[in-house]
Amino acid sequence: MNAWLITGGAGFIGSNFVRLASSRVDAKLIVLDALTYAGNLSNINDLIESKQITFIKGNILDSTLLNQLFSEHKISHVVHFAAESHVDRSITGPAAFIETNVTGTYTLLKAAQDAWQNQYDHKRFLHVSTDEVYGDLGPDDPPFNERMAYQPSSPYSASKAASDHLAMAWHRTYGLPVIISNCSNNYGPWQFPEKLIPLIILNALEGRELPVYGDGMQIRDWLHVEDHCDALFTILERGQDGEIYCIGGNNERTNLDIVMRICNAVDQALYRTAGASRKLISHVTDRLGHDRRYAIDAGKLRQELHWSPSYTVENALPEVVNWYLQHRDWADDVRSGEYQAYYERHYNQR
Ligand code: NAD
Ligand code: TYD
Repeated sequence: MNAWLITGGAGFIGSNFVRLASSRVDAKLIVLDALTYAGNLSNINDLIESKQITFIKGNILDSTLLNQLFSEHKISHVVHFAAESHVDRSITGPAAFIETNVTGTYTLLKAAQDAWQNQYDHKRFLHVSTDEVYGDLGPDDPPFNERMAYQPSSPYSASKAASDHLAMAWHRTYGLPVIISNCSNNYGPWQFPEKLIPLIILNALEGRELPVYGDGMQIRDWLHVEDHCDALFTILERGQDGEIYCIGGNNERTNLDIVMRICNAVDQALYRTAGASRKLISHVTDRLGHDRRYAIDAGKLRQELHWSPSYTVENALPEVVNWYLQHRDWADDVRSGEYQAYYERHYNQR
């Protein structure tokens, strides 16, 4: 039986992907994850227990382990999510980003190349990346597309840009069947609460301060994680080797707009007086090198692969707020480790 190797499958997007893959893919699903602070077995425990997936705790930097996995299983697809993913952490601790995102991606590409030995029929290596590699946009600039030059701003986006270049070089030079996807900001269930949407939801539910960086007028193009995963399945099925696909939600919003919407949804869910949660908003010191606007032109994906998103922020955000309300134990669990120290370091006296 063929197997899919899914790296970072215990993280936010990877766990949502694995959940969907378990009902959509007729292959063995092997999840490889180092379980950093951002990877949580509770995201996929039910799938492990029901044997719908095989979980391996391990690092993409471990070439011996990778070679062993490729030799023990008939791996036809690699779906590569594993990464250090939080911009704020990359500003204070860039080394881990270079190690995992750059060297780790190289190690994985090399392992696939060595294992597949130029036999690339029915093989796929999907490198999951971000729109942040393109830098940021002015208010009237056209959205990012696949032909734009890379101009990353943060150590995170620079490390992802480097990994994209390596992935494409492995296609051009060695013929590895690589596809790259560059996606906009995701939101949805199982997102680690250091990112804007889950952090604001949980703080609002708990009556804590809602930290908005600078004026809060930065713009992101929000995509529901299930739409992202659906686009990835489309690309895996119908995409072309050596191609790049930009994935976006067509949902450009300012951070302040998102925070206000969360406040309204929390007020409704907890029967608070309208406007009560907004009083918790606090404008704090801005992020260094903060990208002002991201927006994606997903025209290539729409025209060539006939994919478009199905969620909008209006209809999905209240549901996502309810998900976090109903998963308070999960949130307490994932925040119980080094998160407390991170939160204090990052937000106290900001
Ligand atoms: P995440 O931080 O929630 O999850 C990353 C996972 O990778 C974790 O489970 C972690 O344990 C694992 N991991 C980290 N280092 C590892 C290593 N060296 N070896 C093995 N496993 C390791 O990230 P996410 O938000 O799910 O993002 C997944 C991918 O999608 C990343 O490559 C990210 O750059 C990309 N992406 C994310 C977004 C977003 O909005 N979250 C948008 C576009 C693209
Ligand atoms: P984030 O979720 O970290 O994603 P990214 O930096 O990859 O876009 O941040 C989304 C936006 O929200 C970004 O403009 C930074 C801002 N932000 C805040 O205003 N306050 C916060 O506490 C966080 C975590 C982010």
